Amino acid sequence: MPGILLGDIFPNFEAETTVGTINLHDFLGDQWGILFSHPRDYTPVCTTELGRAAKLSEEFHKRGVKMMALSVDRVDDHHAWIKDIIAYNKEDPGYTLPYPIIADPNRDLALALGMLDPDMKDEAGMPLTARCVFIIGPDKRLKLSILYPASTGRNFTEILRVIDSLQLTARKQVATPVDWKPGDHVMVPPSVSEEDAKDLFPAGVCTQNLPSGKNYLRYTPQP
Ligand code: BEZ
Repeated sequence: MPGILLGDIFPNFEAETTVGTINLHDFLGDQWGILFSHPRDYTPVCTTELGRAAKLSEEFHKRGVKMMALSVDRVDDHHAWIKDIIAYNKEDPGYTLPYPIIADPNRDLALALGMLDPDMKDEAGMPLTARCVFIIGPDKRLKLSILYPASTGRNFTEILRVIDSLQLTARKQVATPVDWKPGDHVMVPPSVSEEDAKDLFPAGVCTQNLPSGKNYLRYTPQP
């Protein structure tokens, strides 16, 4: 099973998209990127997801994250489908989708990037693309991947929350606990000694007492 592991350089590729031919690494430049894939054009869950992603595009932009969608089917199909997405979002017909949709009619990219779901087939018996989320760092390395089956739409608010965690933990030596939101306290990772924690986190470190007597549950205000 081909696949890309966390920390791998995300493979570069050239592809036809709704805004012309894109070279992935050139498109990303030194920014973060998100690539989210879709099983087919003109499918209901995908339409709601692409609509939601468009509504949240300013949030991705504020975080310096370049967006790309991918769906098997051709560019001209994508252009026609975009009209439905715009209508679903109740935008004016002249609205421009704020991210490109990559065409992958032969499933070459879906295969190379490990996106195909062997259990989900089209009417011709060809496997469809699962709902992959790849988040790529400015160093072009894969920072996160999530894989959903075609039957389950993604939560793009959660994806933004994850990006906030990825960007914070890339800058600061902290980890984010369950259900963390920006501004909440963060955790001091086990790799940071008590001595170093005093220097790294001048706002203070609070350690929760535990039955094990081990001092590993350490919180600090978000630096
Ligand atoms: C959808 O986007 O609605 C969908 C696509 C493929 C299989 C199931 C649902």
